[in-house]
Amino acid sequence: MQTITTIADLRRQVAAWRRAGERIALVPTMGNLHAGHLQLVEEARRRAERVVVSVFVNPMQFSDTAGGDFERYPRSAEADREKLAASGTDLVFFPSQDEMYPAGFENVTRVEVPGISGILCGAFRPGHFVGVATVVAKLFNMAQPEVAVFGEKDYQQLLVIRRLSEELCFPIEIVGVPTVREADGLAMSSRNQYLDTEQRQRAAALYQALRAAKERLASGETDMAVIEVAAAASLEAAGFRVEYFTVRRAHDLQPATADDAELVILAAAWLGEARLIDNLRLRRD
Ligand code: PAJ
Repeated sequence: MQTITTIADLRRQVAAWRRAGERIALVPTMGNLHAGHLQLVEEARRRAERVVVSVFVNPMQFSDTAGGDFERYPRSAEADREKLAASGTDLVFFPSQDEMYPAGFENVTRVEVPGISGILCGAFRPGHFVGVATVVAKLFNMAQPEVAVFGEKDYQQLLVIRRLSEELCFPIEIVGVPTVREADGLAMSSRNQYLDTEQRQRAAALYQALRAAKERLASGETDMAVIEVAAAASLEAAGFRVEYFTVRRAHDLQPATADDAELVILAAAWLGEARLIDNLRLRRD
């Protein structure tokens, strides 16, 4: 596995692979890798001859870069390299902040996918999806992959990226991978490290609330508000601070009506210092 830190070296290597007729799959990450990330690498390997993983904690998508979430975000470069080498990754791209944003990230060109970026997580984290869309567009231009792989765990992010790719005409197939979970159902996340032992035991209540809501929908409940209010109340009772718990249309995240067949239930809630998000898809006939 090659470790590359500059855009020029990345371009040289992917150009050589492309000349040899090899397809390239890109897996963007912020590092601190877990089995969820490695599942994306496995999917990438199935879809292309060469797998590029980027590891970059992107300051533009954090709201409080001075201190706070960006600085305390867990970083573990050496462990990440070992996991990626063992997973069959061909190239890991570890750019510095200067390499990605030589002119800083305040007053530079940015990519905005309107509408969807302002709701749900975007409403609670203003500017977050502009930061995500901008860094992903830059990575697409740097690596020029045929395929890019993302997790369904960040469902809203996946929709933002699908739209950005389509609307900016990137010739890239966007692949979504189902959420990888711990044994008790908690979605794997770098942020789970912020949970203490006692919170970690309670954290699976988020997944259980999603499952309960899914069952109520499957058994014919059509009043979304009834489901949403009950779920949020059960989470608050379990010690969570709920940002949203909502049933939406799967394709654009607009509020679901009784007629919509493809649905997604999405939730974001704080448990102690950890902001957890999760979602479940369902189809109603
Ligand atoms: P990060 O949180 O590191 O996640 C990288 C990729 O792994 C994302 O596509 C995410 O959806 C996926 N992922 C995380 N946890 C997962 C799980 N439990 N199961 C399946 N996939 C999972 O998402 C980001 O980084 C950044 O916003 C990024 C896209 C890299 C842009 O900076």
